[in-house]
Amino acid sequence: MKKQAINNLPEPDFIEILQPFSTSKLWQLQRAYFKNAGIDAWRSGQVPHYITSNPVMGKTYAEVVFAFLKDLDQRSNHSEQVYLLELGAGHGRLCYHFLKHFEKLVYMSPLKWISLCYVLSDLAQSNLEFWKTHPRLQPYLYKNWVDFAIVDATQVTEIALQYSGDIITPGSLAQPIIVTANYFFDSIPQELFYIDAQHQLHECLVSLFTSPGAEGNTPVESIENIQVLYTNQVSEKPPFAEPYSANLLDQYQQLLADTYLLFPHIGITCLNKLKQLSQKGLMLLTADKGYHRESDLHGVGAPNLVKHGSFSLSVNFNALKRYCENEGGKALFPRHMDFGLSLGCMLFINDAANYPETRLAYERFVNDFGPDDYFVLKKLLEHGAAALTFNQLVCAVRLSGYDAHLFGQLLPRLHEILETITDDERWGMFQLIHRVWDTYYTLGEANDIAFELGRLLLRLCFYKEAIIYFDISGRIYGEKNDVLYHIAICYCELNRFDEAGKLADKILINDPKHLLALDLLAKLGVEKLYS
Ligand SMILES: C[S@@+](CC[C@H](N)C(=O)[O-])C[C@H]1O[C@@H](n2cnc3c(N)ncnc32)[C@H](O)[C@@H]1O
Repeated sequence: MKKQAINNLPEPDFIEILQPFSTSKLWQLQRAYFKNAGIDAWRSGQVPHYITSNPVMGKTYAEVVFAFLKDLDQRSNHSEQVYLLELGAGHGRLCYHFLKHFEKLVYMSPLKWISLCYVLSDLAQSNLEFWKTHPRLQPYLYKNWVDFAIVDATQVTEIALQYSGDIITPGSLAQPIIVTANYFFDSIPQELFYIDAQHQLHECLVSLFTSPGAEGNTPVESIENIQVLYTNQVSEKPPFAEPYSANLLDQYQQLLADTYLLFPHIGITCLNKLKQLSQKGLMLLTADKGYHRESDLHGVGAPNLVKHGSFSLSVNFNALKRYCENEGGKALFPRHMDFGLSLGCMLFINDAANYPETRLAYERFVNDFGPDDYFVLKKLLEHGAAALTFNQLVCAVRLSGYDAHLFGQLLPRLHEILETITDDERWGMFQLIHRVWDTYYTLGEANDIAFELGRLLLRLCFYKEAIIYFDISGRIYGEKNDVLYHIAICYCELNRFDEAGKLADKILINDPKHLLALDLLAKLGVEKLYS
């Protein structure tokens, strides 16, 4: 029997009591969630990923990385391979968007020496297996532009590449290592402190509890039901032996008062280890919701877990920035306020101030107008879609880098205006549809983009091309009657009545009461009679 509290309510079930934040069971649950869910975490839409992994983000990173390579070009070691390591790559979408744009830059540029290998990494081997067979990554795999590795940020030593078989060991890289990490630094354990009004440091201990019996059988249920209680305890001894974190925490203790402080010690240690893989240092590109200004660190309350299958927190980018600067590096963050996504570029490199192309690219692709701004505009376009003209719809899709997700949101409006467009516009749509598909990296989500593009082509009277998209839909989602029926309609329009009839028969074997197929067969019978 449950103990009864004085007010007669059952006492909560405690899962753990007074544990340091960074070693709390919360992080075991987070790990277990990602390992168990694999690609389903994103396929189901449970964990958000659009804002950090869309074509605009891919283009932005590609432009900044390309500029960084131009800066490297001014130095030596031209023939040496440059590695880009994506931490916590999850679904792998960012890699595809990056490479699509990067490829264009490489082929159009006079810089022909460039040899970049994009290493997709994660904790979960099942994610690696998904990427290894993803059709979009195959062309890059054959060119040796992509490789895969298990990298656990909590214990980085060396990186074993699963495709080439190479192993990157400390000091083995002659070029700086490029690291990207989106929605990442809040997915790995962090320390939590409270600095009181007298600048005294407190360690924050967490107790986890649920309402009685609600602990949950799976990581996702447990994360959903868990509640966190924070207890502050004066730190008796310095928490860190590593000088990079000890110094940083000292700075914060002098600067801040009466505030909670998330401290990414494990993230910083991970960067420190990755930096040591190269003789030339590290360049980091990272984006997440978070704060990079010191002013945002004052008067902060205890952190709030945002739950979506896994959980997320706001990232203390100010700590990464300070760590970078303390190491003699250069950290770039937007000068203006952001709307929900901070995007930082940090150069942990000897002469970091002397990378003009990188700074210029950051200025153009982040500071002037970046992925954060695009995301705000995208919402405006989605909400206002019903009033958009043909030209505005096309511009919206171009602005998004031919993003299939936005295109999907605009589809109802496109169907609405289809009857009114000119023949030139019809050809414009034809081109647009192919570019949207070319940009799309499928996760097998519920929204069948290939089918939608096929339907649009059918309405635009591009029947042969529509059949190609319906076939692709069948290969991704399996043969469905609805898709077969649309192919049959295309065959009819192409006067290929026998093939249409065979498809209608096939549908009726699957579903003898399929009204549209019955109707089609009846019409085909009449057609035969008069042909
Ligand atoms: C929120 S997801 C971000 C996925 C992707 N980067 C994005 O922007 O959508 C966090 C990713 O970090 C991975 N991850 C969690 N803990 C990790 C660790 N200790 N080391 C490496 N990856 C980890 C998870 O498996 C997951 O793929």
